[in-house]
Amino acid sequence: MKRIFSGLQPSGVLTLGNYLGALRRWVELQESYDCLYCIVDMHAITMPLEPTALRENIYEVAATYMACGLDPSKSTLFIQSHVAAHAELGWMLGCKTPMGWLNRMTQFKDKAGKDKEKASLGLYGYPCLQAADILLYQTHLVPVGEDQKQHIELTRDIAQSVNSAYNASLFTLPEPLISEIGARIMSLRDGNKKMSKSDPSDFSRINLRDDTDLIVQKIKKARTDAEPLPDNFDQLADRPEARNLITIYASLQGQTPQKVCETFSGQLFSIFKPALTELVIEKLEPISHRINELLSDKGELARHLKKGAERAEELASPTLRNAQNIFGFVAR
Ligand code: TYM
Repeated sequence: MKRIFSGLQPSGVLTLGNYLGALRRWVELQESYDCLYCIVDMHAITMPLEPTALRENIYEVAATYMACGLDPSKSTLFIQSHVAAHAELGWMLGCKTPMGWLNRMTQFKDKAGKDKEKASLGLYGYPCLQAADILLYQTHLVPVGEDQKQHIELTRDIAQSVNSAYNASLFTLPEPLISEIGARIMSLRDGNKKMSKSDPSDFSRINLRDDTDLIVQKIKKARTDAEPLPDNFDQLADRPEARNLITIYASLQGQTPQKVCETFSGQLFSIFKPALTELVIEKLEPISHRINELLSDKGELARHLKKGAERAEELASPTLRNAQNIFGFVAR
């Protein structure tokens, strides 16, 4: 059975972008693949984050995974720091990755901002740890949103260069799996910017745990234009905010954006926005309700994560040992 690996950072609230770009797809995939879904806490400390907030976020991500439909009896759900092999292989791959490759990573440029001297070594080396996450499990497919494509391509480059440097087939080359619709959900305030949990404005995103009133307000205030909707999605090429709202609707409803345009053709946003609001609430309310239920028993969540880590460790161990051997380390 082909193997899938993906992960999400417990660095803040989870957004509709995380759901449509990643989580929702993960749930479908668990029916036909051997799936590992990780809570990447070691990635989350590459940016400033209070320890108490991190701990809460980890449980919240675990609860969200399950509330969205990930089933611990079908998928391996675990916390990255529970499997030490991630850090160990991450270091080894960092020693084999030229700085020139890391300098091209746009996520580092975005997150480091203007003052790169202040960014941590961890933030810079982040893609090597991500490569280790994926390569440890001989992963075939990595379901992610569009923004992670560059990291998966780098992972392939690292795998290929290590395999050929040691003339060994140590790592499987993974492929990114990116949905056609919903792979890049944009900010509600700026249709050219990604919807992100790290955006300072809460009104730029819909969070999976937003209550009904807040969702109503956020969609009401979402930036749009005064034009009616066209009957052809291609005509929205230079209307990024309108394009984004149509994409969100399509993605939640399981329709093509073209079909949504046909349904709302000629209508103004005063008609479309309430329909979108209703759909978002219909889809998110049960999830946020279930998250709250699951969070009321953290012991149960911890038990699932422990079992997940045990399986992940078993799967990761042969690849780590093999890499250590090939690199020339001496076995204990
Ligand atoms: P993270 O935590 O930023 O996001 C988790 C997943 O959500 C997707 N996503 C989006 N998709 C569509 N529209 C958006 N606005 C949007 N925002 C986020 C992301 O593409 C991602 O799939 N580096 C990764 C975490 C990671 C990882 C891994 C992923 C660590 N190791 C190994 C895959 C495999 C990250 O920061 O994702």
